[in-house]
Amino acid sequence: MRVESPQIPYNFADLEPAMSRDTLVFHFLHHQRDCFDRMLSMVRGTELETLPLAELVCACERDPERRVLFRHAAEVWNHDLYWRSMRPGGGGAPHGLIGEHIAARFGTYERFARELKEAAASVFGSGWLWLVQSADDLEIVLTRDADSPLLRGDTALLALDLWEHAYYLEHQNRRGAYVDTFLEELVNWDFANRVLAGLAAGAEARPVHSRAVSEVHRGQLGAL
Ligand SMILES: [Fe+2]
Repeated sequence: MRVESPQIPYNFADLEPAMSRDTLVFHFLHHQRDCFDRMLSMVRGTELETLPLAELVCACERDPERRVLFRHAAEVWNHDLYWRSMRPGGGGAPHGLIGEHIAARFGTYERFARELKEAAASVFGSGWLWLVQSADDLEIVLTRDADSPLLRGDTALLALDLWEHAYYLEHQNRRGAYVDTFLEELVNWDFANRVLAGLAAGAEARPVHSRAVSEVHRGQLGAL
């Protein structure tokens, strides 16, 4: 199996007080690791066993017989992005290239933050909120359940888990308070900048449309 066991790139208590150790322990060990273990059990001994995670997600999404495997594989991939979208001492206005892109696309950071919070509030049930670089521009994208921007061919710059298990211990059902905390105390703009830098380097080497989406994301997940 080419998919490595998931890891959080900091200690469980390192995001406190914005996000508690208990939230990260339960989220990582009892959700992502459970998805990972179930995914492994479903691919073991099949032709999918040798695929990198991003390619496994896309291959399963196209196969109606593999919807259960798709959901578990996508949740592993989505959470890998989510852990890297936060950092100890994070939060605040964006800097560097991502700050420039947000200013160009949204006018101001305040408008971007408002649109992000409105998008989060619009999700009924479980899902994910993403900041992505699409073929055209920076976009705020919502996906339902375990769906992922990989399937659109977009490159994820940030992921925000909107399942209640991500914030219930701290915020109960107040999703807006969770999004505020993410923006003010957790968001990792350095990660978004590294992904953008990787995209720019790849674009100089050859056209974006000629690269597999999974190739971009394999690089970005190893970058933190
Ligand atoms: Fe989650």
